[in-house]
Amino acid sequence: MFKIGNLNIKNRIIAAPMAGVTDKAFRIIAKEFGCGLVYTEMVSDKGLIYEQARTEAIANINEEEPPVTVQIFGSDVESLVLAARKIEKLGAPIIDINMGCPTPKIIKNGDGAALMLDLPKARQIIREVVKAVTVPVTVKFRKGFSPDNVNALELAGIAETEGASAVAIHGRTREQYYSGKADWDIIKLIKQNLTIPVIGNGDIWTAEAALKMIEYTNCDAIMIGRASLGNPFIFQEAVELVENGFRIEPPTIEERINTAIYHLELASKYKGEALATREMRKHLAWYSKGIKGAAKIRVAINQTSNQAEMIDLIKSLATISTE
Ligand SMILES: Cc1cc2nc3c(=O)[nH]c(=O)nc-3n(C[C@H](O)[C@H](O)[C@H](O)COP(=O)(O)O)c2cc1C
Repeated sequence: MFKIGNLNIKNRIIAAPMAGVTDKAFRIIAKEFGCGLVYTEMVSDKGLIYEQARTEAIANINEEEPPVTVQIFGSDVESLVLAARKIEKLGAPIIDINMGCPTPKIIKNGDGAALMLDLPKARQIIREVVKAVTVPVTVKFRKGFSPDNVNALELAGIAETEGASAVAIHGRTREQYYSGKADWDIIKLIKQNLTIPVIGNGDIWTAEAALKMIEYTNCDAIMIGRASLGNPFIFQEAVELVENGFRIEPPTIEERINTAIYHLELASKYKGEALATREMRKHLAWYSKGIKGAAKIRVAINQTSNQAEMIDLIKSLATISTE
């Protein structure tokens, strides 16, 4: 257990925010597989202020077991403050500010990792957002913007000074996107220099790696992103290993199929069948990765917008894998 502000987080395994992935259905499953904390997809400050339905849907955490962190992005201090207040009113127990997104569309507006190029502004944003709400505020960022601009330690110090309740660090620069290896030494260095909780992130592909990051960096918690695509089982594996010292078996094909169907049903419940079946295509490609003969079924999955038909196709993964 550790604390973010005065909130107890029941274990050290956290689901990373992923736009287009970590929607309500995904978060419910991540929690059921044991995550101590989950994040929403990043939510646009402007979208919230202008009450865009799509943005509000992304920020909606109704019916979810707390705590859930709602992540906002933007670079205008006033808009971020208004958005944070709004999110607090909607019931967010923790608000995170995105200072790590590398996407050109985001960077071009001065948002996400672009804020690592303007630390005075990053400072002002953190200070004002912290002042504007009563819930804990956290900040997620990268190692730096580029190899000549590695300033995560400085930004972490700023976050702590300005009242952030935790920081999450992805050990890559913006220029690296997702290439190369995540630098765990920067996480270790930041942990050595901060008193607020430090969440380590980057390249945790197995439960063993989760444990290794904690041992290597001494970070307070770890955050898993890409390894959980179609594989929420990794959360349970990591919780069991890190918190209880147990290694659990990887899921069987039946467990993968049942979880994929459950994921589809949750997605349909919250987004409606048409959108859910479309969005589930990518999740199902991930869930079925490595299953012998799945390629043919994926083609059929990508052609249906009917939930019952999609479920039949998912079930058929069990039979082809034994053929
Ligand atoms: C598809 C995708 C979407 C992402 N969206 C976000 C986001 O909305 N906010 C954010 O802070 N990070 C986002 N990230 C970054 C992840 O949170 C995480 O920092 C990164 O994937 C490294 O962790 P990993 O090696 O465990 O995947 C995204 C990553 C991926 C792959």
